[in-house]
Amino acid sequence: MPPIPVITIDGPSASGKGTVAERVAAALGFHFLDSGALYRLTALSAMRHGVALDDAARVAQLAATLPAAFRDGTVWLAGEDVTDAIRAEAVGDGASKVAALPAVRAALLERQRAYRQAPGLVADGRDMGTVVFADATAKVFLTASAEARAERRYKQLIEKGNSASLPALVADMQARDARDTGRAVAPLKPAPDALLLDTTRMDVESAVQAVLGHYRGR
Ligand code: CDP
Repeated sequence: MPPIPVITIDGPSASGKGTVAERVAAALGFHFLDSGALYRLTALSAMRHGVALDDAARVAQLAATLPAAFRDGTVWLAGEDVTDAIRAEAVGDGASKVAALPAVRAALLERQRAYRQAPGLVADGRDMGTVVFADATAKVFLTASAEARAERRYKQLIEKGNSASLPALVADMQARDARDTGRAVAPLKPAPDALLLDTTRMDVESAVQAVLGHYRGR
């Protein structure tokens, strides 16, 4: 039996990978894994249990037993709809901290691999092509300049009625990039066999077509 196809889409914060990955999955009728949501859920769970984000053993324990569910675009934790709560900047920041702990990454590994089900999977994250699905059918690394990414995040926040400061978002983006790229375990970097896609001047639809073209060419 040939392996179940996987398309991995990795890249830095707000590079548009989530939107692109979801549309590619819809176009192919594949399952979709938002691995960042698992790190966000782990951080939220730690915050709610009063567990320090650098307490590796206790955070890994929470990650291993995360009572999480994904349903039609909504995210649930212990029976509570946390779709919006996990998108808060503070939770994203916490996610990037717990994601630096090897025990947490190990605790989430099998859970992520379990998403590989027929007819196929599109997985979005930081280490989908390098670690979790190193044998993926097609790998893409999506980037955009820190300024372009901060601007996209700014628009999202304003559209949702939140207040936001563009310079603060650029600074936050650079700090998160540094932490994700510089960490010892599963740092953010393109897999050697990944297609590099710079979306600074590319709209979502063009990026989706580029990914589909890359996959079909494999
Ligand atoms: O929305 P954004 O791209 O900022 O974040 P996300 O994809 O939801 O991921 C949140 C955090 O989880 C990131 O800053 C990473 O540190 C971490 N993460 C990771 O380490 N590995 C993954 N496969 C996915 C996310």
